Amino acid sequence: MIKNLLKEFDIFFGKGGTKQVFFSPGRVNLIGEHTDYNGGCAFPCALDFGTYGIIRIRNDNKCRIFSLNIKNSPFKEFHINKIQKQENEGWIAYEKGIIKVFHDHGYEFDKGFDMLMFGSIPNGAGLSSSASVELLTAVILNDLYHLNIDMIDMIKMSQIAENTYVGVQCGIMDQFAIGMGKKDNAILIDCNTLEYQYAPIKLDDASIIIGNTNKKRGLTDSKYNERRKSCEDAVKVLNDNGVKISYLGELNEKEFDQVKKFITDKEQLLRAKHAVSENQRTKEAVILLKKGNISKFGELMNKSHISLRDDYDVTGFELDTMVNVAWKSKGTIGARMTGAGFGGCTVNIVKNEYIEEFIKTVSDEYLAKTKLKAAFYIAKIGDGARKIGDY
Ligand code: GLA
Repeated sequence: MIKNLLKEFDIFFGKGGTKQVFFSPGRVNLIGEHTDYNGGCAFPCALDFGTYGIIRIRNDNKCRIFSLNIKNSPFKEFHINKIQKQENEGWIAYEKGIIKVFHDHGYEFDKGFDMLMFGSIPNGAGLSSSASVELLTAVILNDLYHLNIDMIDMIKMSQIAENTYVGVQCGIMDQFAIGMGKKDNAILIDCNTLEYQYAPIKLDDASIIIGNTNKKRGLTDSKYNERRKSCEDAVKVLNDNGVKISYLGELNEKEFDQVKKFITDKEQLLRAKHAVSENQRTKEAVILLKKGNISKFGELMNKSHISLRDDYDVTGFELDTMVNVAWKSKGTIGARMTGAGFGGCTVNIVKNEYIEEFIKTVSDEYLAKTKLKAAFYIAKIGDGARKIGDY
């Protein structure tokens, strides 16, 4: 893979000089959905596929970036110390957004670079192709210019880039999972305090299967920001009624039951109910996993999907269809949507001996019901964003 990318780089930008290779993974969230911006817990892991960046420093201030994923478009060029946002600038917004946030934090760069990118995360699939590019760019800047920025700070800066430059009011889960990923481990993140712990994923005789509905979702156009606003409004209502919290994640289900009467707006109530119950499920799920109780972990995944479907209303026909078929399929321990929802992927834990049957049954029935061809990946959990080496 790297050899080919280096060759492509030479074809595109010309031979010579030292090239530096970086990699940033995608992520899959096992449980804890739409909890991050609610100050709750999430339990994602980094994948072993993601985005590569091949870099060569230039002697001027230009940045020229070419994505092999969008072959027909020419490279994008800009001055590394003069970032100006343009309307509909597409994928380059992620790189420019990070550079801009680095500027805002006082960093200037003496030289630009040429960069060839290639990503194997399907776009709009809920596996965080965007956060993958953000962390890739952050790690590149940090390394090229010897900035010595802590990974957690780069994660925070990447979230700021997505919130302010790209315009999606996302939480911090994706950037955190991608920055802090660790092989064979998921990460329990308290998204309020940013305390985290690794939990080895030992599934005995089962594997994590990602199912892509191939129903694309555009996060910026989606209802994502609306969901976030409903939860914030619910917090305001609770505050007005003397419940002093900053985030719904501060309440457990029992406490929520005592105060939910104050939330009179039906929609807000449902959204808040999900945020609270999902946070509790996530904490319980991690304890179960650590005890090796995979089947109970799977049950909580199923409940998570139901809550995302009925209370948070972010699933939709394709995700529900795929999950319904998965629930009925032999060998399924748990199945739910993963990521923001409104399309994208499901995450499933399936007994190894039934994986083939699972993939066949779910694809066939999903195709029959939705007329869409699904794709499946057996997920391997990898390390976070990093430099691979000099070539
Ligand atoms: C997207 C966002 C995350 C998180 C998830 C839902 O992936 O980027 O911050 O809110 O949706 O859990």
